[in-house]
Amino acid sequence: MTKAAKTIRKIAGDTPVAAALILGSGLSALGDDLRDRIVIPYSELKGFPRSSGVSGHGRDLLIGEMGGKRIAILTGREHYYERGHAAAMRPALETLAALGAPTLLLTNSAGSLDPETGPGNLMLIADHINHAGTNPLIGEPTDRRFVNMVDAYDPDLRRKSHEIASALGIALKEGVYFWYSGPSFETPAEIQMAIRLGANAVGMSTAPEVILARLLGFKVWACSSIANMGAGLTDEQISHEHTKTMAVRGAEKLRRLIPALLEAL
Ligand code: HPA
Repeated sequence: MTKAAKTIRKIAGDTPVAAALILGSGLSALGDDLRDRIVIPYSELKGFPRSSGVSGHGRDLLIGEMGGKRIAILTGREHYYERGHAAAMRPALETLAALGAPTLLLTNSAGSLDPETGPGNLMLIADHINHAGTNPLIGEPTDRRFVNMVDAYDPDLRRKSHEIASALGIALKEGVYFWYSGPSFETPAEIQMAIRLGANAVGMSTAPEVILARLLGFKVWACSSIANMGAGLTDEQISHEHTKTMAVRGAEKLRRLIPALLEAL
């Protein structure tokens, strides 16, 4: 068990959590919906992100109840672009595994490459393309590093999500997420390349966490909240401010979808 997991158990008790949820840019509203919540700042948790952070991201671990399940929420993540450390989230993910979470739900905000999935919509991630030129398992010394990435995004959770979204009247397309290192946004030419390679959305997070999560044995579910169309696809200006504002619209949908998914776990 990690030292951070011991700290969390001391504060929040030993009851295992049924799932863990990581919140992306502008999606912090989801943390407000947690009932009976306990807030633990990352600064008290060994190995958790220490960098100053990215505006629009929180720096707390929350434990509480959502959709009738006890869950842990990470209100913010460390991105590869902050320190060039692709495995930055490994200690936090190991801690979530030690808290007993069998399932990891990831959210992010992303640029869409699909004209039918515009800003304010959700895209369920079915697979990813790692285009960042690195991998969080580089340096892992054991044969565990050869992680199988087929069905990394759990097919059963995806099927359940579609059923729930359609019952709730939420449009939910599924697609391939393209991990771009950032922190600059893509050029229009890079967006054209991502489209030709078969991607449907582009973003700067999630894929390294999914690789680590599969190493650790989590069932993984991930969903993008579309903040903008990819660079050059429309006249819209892309900025971090715009990302945070538009992500709120997707957050309203995730606020309905995620509790229902937790209930169905
Ligand atoms: N590109 C990469 N990451 C993003 C974008 C984008 O267009 N929008 C929100 N996050």
